[in-house]
Amino acid sequence: MPDFQIKELEPSNPEWVKAVLADFDEFLKDHADCERKASGMAMSLVAKYPDRDEILDELIHTGIEELDHFRKVFWIMRERGVPLNRKMNKDAYVDQLLKNIRGGRDQGLLDRLIIAALVENRGFERFKLIAENCKDPELVKFYDLIYKSEARHGEMFLRLALNYFDQNTVEQRYNEMVDIEGKILASLPIGPVLH
Ligand SMILES: [Fe+2]
Ligand SMILES: [Fe+2]
Repeated sequence: MPDFQIKELEPSNPEWVKAVLADFDEFLKDHADCERKASGMAMSLVAKYPDRDEILDELIHTGIEELDHFRKVFWIMRERGVPLNRKMNKDAYVDQLLKNIRGGRDQGLLDRLIIAALVENRGFERFKLIAENCKDPELVKFYDLIYKSEARHGEMFLRLALNYFDQNTVEQRYNEMVDIEGKILASLPIGPVLH
């Protein structure tokens, strides 16, 4: 397995985890939406690049895994009497990241895989913060499971890119995008939402 020379993400503002813990029901609704969107994102790569046989199995597997996360969040919500959002929130964070996709079929693929890796790595960082700061044992157990799963996903998207791009190219573009991701996140309001 390759060892990527990549930059760490800018750490989340400590106010973020406080905002989440102050309104966890609201956070669960957004988290559920993020999981179904993550599943959709993996499957949209399958739809856009059906000829890239080297990456299809893992993309489909990820789509299923994210949908399973959605189901697990949904079960926790139902147990707590928290309804799903009637309408899924627009995710300004992801929308702004996607604006950085360059033209060209190959470059576009690289950028989409790198954005997916960034979103997973940010999920890892934030879910881990929840697991470390939450006092509810059921939630601690759940977010521990979730953050470990997102860590695998981040690495996987970069590894998928190695089928078509050399490691240096992947690392360089990822590192460029780390700075962009940090600026996008810092520009967004803090609240009980994942981004
Ligand atoms: Fe997930
Ligand atoms: Fe994930």
